[in-house]
Amino acid sequence: ADVLLIHGPNLNLLGSREPEIYGHENLDDINRRLVDRATTAGCELTAVQSNAEHELIEAVHTARDDGVRFIIINPGAFTHTSIALRDALAGVDIPFMEIHISNVHARESFRQHSYFSDIAVGVICGLGTFGYDCALEAVLNHLANQSM
Ligand code: DQA
Repeated sequence: ADVLLIHGPNLNLLGSREPEIYGHENLDDINRRLVDRATTAGCELTAVQSNAEHELIEAVHTARDDGVRFIIINPGAFTHTSIALRDALAGVDIPFMEIHISNVHARESFRQHSYFSDIAVGVICGLGTFGYDCALEAVLNHLANQSM
């Protein structure tokens, strides 16, 4: 794939999980919409979700072997805890966008630090699931221009 969309822990519950924070759209709806949009732009997008840190790390490693050009990642709660997942992204040297559905800065203080933001190309948060569409548009633009 050209673009790998990675969903971290508990995002499999989207649609039913705290809908007042995360909305009503489920993960399949988001994935389908992004695959369609990427396809229209002549890009191949693959999506993965895992609740396990090591599986997310392995997905990042595999991305390099597969020639993935850009990663869009919502690391879920691993945003605030996982040096290992950060190291994986830094290690494969694939540019990535960090996305959060909620505005993490308006929530508990433990959500206000990210292990990813300082090495991300960009960060989107607080736009709901529309943030995924915004991230993909930015990535498609980046891939078309190879500049950002
Ligand atoms: C989240 C924000 C995180 O703090 C939280 O642990 C999540 C989802 C978001 O998309 O808003 O699981 O990444």
